[in-house]
Amino acid sequence: MKLFVTGGAGFIGSNFILYWMKHHPEDRVVNYDALTYAGNLENLREIEHLPQYQFVKGDICDRATVLEAMRGTDVVVHFAAESHVDRSIMHPSAFVHTNVLGTQVLLDCAKEVGIRRFHHISTDEVFGTLELGSAEKFNEQTPYAPHSPYSASKAGSDHLVRAYADTYGLPISITNCSNNYGPYQFPEKLMGLAITNLLEGKKVPVYSPGSQVRDWLYVEDHVRAIELVLQKGAEGSTYCIGGMNQDISNLDVVKMIISIMGFKDEMIEIVGDRPGHDVRYAIDWSKIHTELGWSPSVTLEQGLKKTIDWFADHQEWWQSIKTGAYLDYYEVQYGERI
Ligand code: NAD
Ligand code: TYD
Repeated sequence: MKLFVTGGAGFIGSNFILYWMKHHPEDRVVNYDALTYAGNLENLREIEHLPQYQFVKGDICDRATVLEAMRGTDVVVHFAAESHVDRSIMHPSAFVHTNVLGTQVLLDCAKEVGIRRFHHISTDEVFGTLELGSAEKFNEQTPYAPHSPYSASKAGSDHLVRAYADTYGLPISITNCSNNYGPYQFPEKLMGLAITNLLEGKKVPVYSPGSQVRDWLYVEDHVRAIELVLQKGAEGSTYCIGGMNQDISNLDVVKMIISIMGFKDEMIEIVGDRPGHDVRYAIDWSKIHTELGWSPSVTLEQGLKKTIDWFADHQEWWQSIKTGAYLDYYEVQYGERI
């Protein structure tokens, strides 16, 4: 089988490729990635020499390059996106370009090439926000109500994927997952930022008031869920994937990280809030559990310990990121707040 993976040099995509090549060595994998600030081929060092792996540098908006690289593909697994909410507030147009137009170009090429499955990786953020303290959860029937330019652009891409299934009969599936954390997470997102800041002896910025809730999903659990959907998920179906059974606030997540790493809560800096900040995400992942037998393999504490160990053991990886352009971003995002 030939897989065409977009965004395979990013956080989740590289975890997916590393996992897939280990568990399905008979398959060929093309990693199609534009190598934006978030793409890093270092993530794939251990498999880059394998003959069944090929990297193609290209933009998903570039139809000719996509089409050429996609020929002969059985399954498309689409991760490539602009993925950080705070950056989408600074520069929304890049999000519409890559996430909406790029997805449409991929769908068009998949239609022309004639693939067996187009699997689209989406987010729970398309559903908007839940009330703090409520027992409500997002599920596959929740109406879309995105709030940030990021989630709006992902919602647009989900609609296009379903439109290509309904209009042209393209065989698709979609997963809407919660906040991932784990090895190779770019240190602009909360978990990676908190752990690397602490390893550098710096404080962790928590957006005010810190009571916001996210559902946290260990990246390898997410990758296993995608594997199951590709193997056994029904064509045309959507699955919500989450890693938690109960709410935990951002402040308490950061306190957990601080405590595991042996620091004190004085390392927390409450900073100004994000505009349009969704206050609560929670996922009902019973469909994928019942239909495909998936459940998370680690608790948040276990996943955090693994993640902290990984970042502690891979200082060169994240230190090289936290220089140059990253510092400019950090200054714009946090400079006036801290
Ligand atoms: P990431 O930002 O770490 O990686 C994105 C990858 O896409 C990078 O390698 C980048 O170079 C590539 N890319 C960006 N624009 C491209 C373009 N125009 N053409 C080709 N490649 C391009 O993202 P991630 O955190 O790994 O997220 C992967 C997917 O999962 C995204 O679709 C995201 O919306 C979704 N998702 C992520 C999370 C999360 O917590 N990280 C949660 C829910 C859903
Ligand atoms: P983030 O990792 O950016 O993911 P998303 O916005 O896609 O959920 O943020 C996770 C939560 O942590 C979110 O509620 C915003 C908050 N947050 C902070 O409190 N401080 C930070 O420095 C960042 C990046 C996020």
